[in-house]
Amino acid sequence: MHLTYEILPVDEIEIIRDLCNELMAFQKSKSYITPELFDSMNFDTRLLPSLKSAIYNHIVVVKHSDEPVGYVYSNISPKETYSNDFATFFDLESVSKNHVGCLSQFYIKEEYRQYGIGSKLFSMSREWLETFDDIEDYFIFVSNGNNSALEFYIRKGFTVSHDILGGFITVLRNNSSL
Ligand SMILES: CC(C)(COP(=O)(O)OP(=O)(O)OC[C@H]1O[C@@H](n2cnc3c(N)ncnc32)[C@H](O)[C@@H]1OP(=O)(O)O)[C@@H](O)C(=O)NCCC(=O)NCCS
Repeated sequence: MHLTYEILPVDEIEIIRDLCNELMAFQKSKSYITPELFDSMNFDTRLLPSLKSAIYNHIVVVKHSDEPVGYVYSNISPKETYSNDFATFFDLESVSKNHVGCLSQFYIKEEYRQYGIGSKLFSMSREWLETFDDIEDYFIFVSNGNNSALEFYIRKGFTVSHDILGGFITVLRNNSSL
């Protein structure tokens, strides 16, 4: 299988529109706590606003014969971004620096899973996040019912911190100074 891994410039973000929308549909299909919250979540309402509110963005897209089949989106954002009308994702006081790193979206089409592509994308995300010396806290937010993703991140060194929104989201974190 000839795959390429490319850093996607933000002005070419449209090429992952369908994959992002598939991710939202996948998460809804797994969810058993307020799955209807996903009805308003899509490329336009989730990915584009995240790109705007973050100070640095990093998207890696994996292509098979020029066809996008997966991506990982990570960012560096002010910690206040995570306390908004939708939710307070974590106690801001528990983060000593002004900014946090987040692996924000991660999706691989079903027929490409279990070949190590996710592990490769995860490593590329982590390497990028670790280039920021002034970031200590890294977060991943996993929606309910997605236990395979939760276990994947735990195997990669993240720890379950707490649930928010009545269990709709599980917050995973990792602190580089620990
Ligand atoms: C979560 C996700 C990104 C992981 O991607 P993936 O490509 O399946 O991940 P990998 O293949 O690297 O690893 C998954 C497991 O497959 C197995 N695996 C990895 N390489 C393998 C290989 N060459 N042969 C057989 N099995 C393999 C391993 O058991 C691995 O477990 P590990 O974490 O202990 O190494 C992917 O499953 C996905 O897109 N899921 C749907 C969307 C989703 O849940 N996104 C996360 C939202 S928070």
